[in-house]
Amino acid sequence: MAEIYLVAGATGKLGQEIVSRLLLKNRHVRAFVRDATKGRALLGENLEVVEGDIRRIDTIHEVLQGVHTVICATGAREPEGQNGPEEVEYEGVRLMATVAANSGVARFVLVSALGVAQAENAPDHLTQALEWKRKGEEALRESGVAYLIVRPGRLTEEAGGQQGIKLGSSIAISGEISRADLAEVILQALARENISNVTFEVVGTQGPAPQSDEDWNRIFAPLEAET
Ligand SMILES: NC(=O)c1ccc[n+]([C@@H]2O[C@H](COP(=O)([O-])OP(=O)(O)OC[C@H]3O[C@@H](n4cnc5c(N)ncnc54)[C@H](OP(=O)(O)O)[C@@H]3O)[C@@H](O)[C@H]2O)c1
Repeated sequence: MAEIYLVAGATGKLGQEIVSRLLLKNRHVRAFVRDATKGRALLGENLEVVEGDIRRIDTIHEVLQGVHTVICATGAREPEGQNGPEEVEYEGVRLMATVAANSGVARFVLVSALGVAQAENAPDHLTQALEWKRKGEEALRESGVAYLIVRPGRLTEEAGGQQGIKLGSSIAISGEISRADLAEVILQALARENISNVTFEVVGTQGPAPQSDEDWNRIFAPLEAET
């Protein structure tokens, strides 16, 4: 049976990019969405669409059944309170990670943010959200499921494959990357089974876009598993 890729936040801008790239690779995709009608309209028919909420453990148990890989691209839609950063970036991620760890999930990708590494330098209105993202990262590390924590710079709508990719730890104070390139980074990382229990920052950079498996291997080479 085909391995199931669960995309949480599939109706978001990055989530849609990830889903379409997975479908192009003929992967079995299950989209975890808050509104199935919206999900179908945005994502099409060629995938499973399951309605739920990452703050509701009953829906998480249901959606994670049989899942091989989780890609969590959810993001708080509100600056605080109901469905704000504490509930989405921390509580929701913690619940997803806890259930994933007990459901046979092989790897869990969490989309975090570059600023988490230096939340104290962030503009005031972002500090709190970054702090909840940091706590979400911690909860994932502590859950026991194998993880990839990806900290992108500011996300843009540029086309993918137009520039180089810089990736590693403490690589930049600021920077940006297109959602298309970020989705490709995530899929390329998942294609390498040895990449596990890592946290990395990623931004676009001047230079040629990676073309071959060797280019991508070079990009990922500096990553080391956290102990
Ligand atoms: N924007 C940036 O510059 C930037 C920079 C660094 C990192 N990031 C991170 O990158 C990720 C993707 O960003 P984006 O801008 O592409 O996302 P986005 O378009 O804002 O989408 C957010 C997604 O999260 C879903 N969501 C919100 N609350 C949820 C809940 N309680 N349960 C289930 N799903 C929920 C939304 O569903 P609905 O469609 O139902 O609302 C939507 O699918 C986020 O984690 C964000 O923090 C963003």
